[in-house]
Amino acid sequence: MNDRFLRACRREPTDRTPVWFMRQAGRYQSEYRALRARHSMLELCRTPELCAQVTLLPVEQLGVDAAILFADIMLPLIGLGVPFDIVEGTGPVIGEPIRTDARVDALRPLEPESDLGFVLEAIRLIRGEARVPLIGFAGAPFTVASYLIEGRGSRDLPHTKAMLHGAPALWDRLMSRLTDATIAYLQAQVTAGVQAVQLFDSWVGALAPCDYALAVMPHMQRLFGALAALGVPVIHFGTGTAGLLPLMARSGGDVIGVDWRIRLSDAWARIGDAGIQGNLDPWMLLAPFEVAAEAAREILADAAGRPGHIFNLGHGVLPQTPPDHLRRLVELVHKHTQAPPGRP
Ligand code: CP3
Repeated sequence: MNDRFLRACRREPTDRTPVWFMRQAGRYQSEYRALRARHSMLELCRTPELCAQVTLLPVEQLGVDAAILFADIMLPLIGLGVPFDIVEGTGPVIGEPIRTDARVDALRPLEPESDLGFVLEAIRLIRGEARVPLIGFAGAPFTVASYLIEGRGSRDLPHTKAMLHGAPALWDRLMSRLTDATIAYLQAQVTAGVQAVQLFDSWVGALAPCDYALAVMPHMQRLFGALAALGVPVIHFGTGTAGLLPLMARSGGDVIGVDWRIRLSDAWARIGDAGIQGNLDPWMLLAPFEVAAEAAREILADAAGRPGHIFNLGHGVLPQTPPDHLRRLVELVHKHTQAPPGRP
């Protein structure tokens, strides 16, 4: 069992810097596109055998140090009773966005075993086969709330901010419900076998620090408090978060995930006593490989071998990425950080 990813989460020394990629299973792979020609994204998620196959494919092809469960941050909405679809090129779409007291109060509590048993079954299948640790995940309450309220992805989050600022009591009720659901879902994932979890607060960078502190942080602190009892490392990821990093670190997380809009060492200075994950710009992998290679070497030099760095992209792999660039990047990170003989 390759455990360098879990060791890095605990900020222990490793034989090489561990590396994995957000969206390492996806449309850049011809095998994935072939499966998608026959099944929708949600069908893949709902079929444990296919889910396990899709999860493990990049581990074999790329040589990454962790697998991430193939699923989507929207799946818990099935249990909350909110119909949605995932539209190619757009992302999640919710027919009737949640913007009123009545709609928030009608959300059902999540019951992971009955609502999302197929996810838990997939986890058990993957654990039976994988030789690297399996990462489970959930969307963080703010980012899931933003989809519920907007009805789809949005750069400026106008309706989300209207509720947060204009109806703070309603906002807090919605965030509390989503926090409860996230705790239940991640507890069930850990019981089923995931060895670390990542919280995706992908769009939280849209907030001013004072609004994060008031409207998001108390919920995140409750969430991280509950997750601490699960005994697995927690990664806390967001994009565009340079101004929020000290507050995100205070919210919680053994490892903070950062994008490329901040230098890795600057980010690490802002989060203090935690590990760090990141932070190559995924668009660089569309240029000739040497461009990404040079940027990766700079990130590794910036991390300077300090225990607790997990190499990743700053956001997900793009569908246009040449698979060979990812494979060579894994090789580069491993070769470049190989400890001299005698070191652990
Ligand atoms: O990282 C992995 O390999 C694990 C699988 C994973 C998916 N979604 C699969 C997926 C994970 C961790 C997610 C999380 C997710 N989903 C997030 C947080 C991470 C991030 O990217 O910020 C968000 C915001 C979503 C919502 C979502 N689902 C979006 C924006 C999209 C992309 C829409 C598109 O077509 O570009 C999806 C669909 C989705 N989720 C795909 C995959 C592989 C593409 C589905 C397809 O058409 O095959």
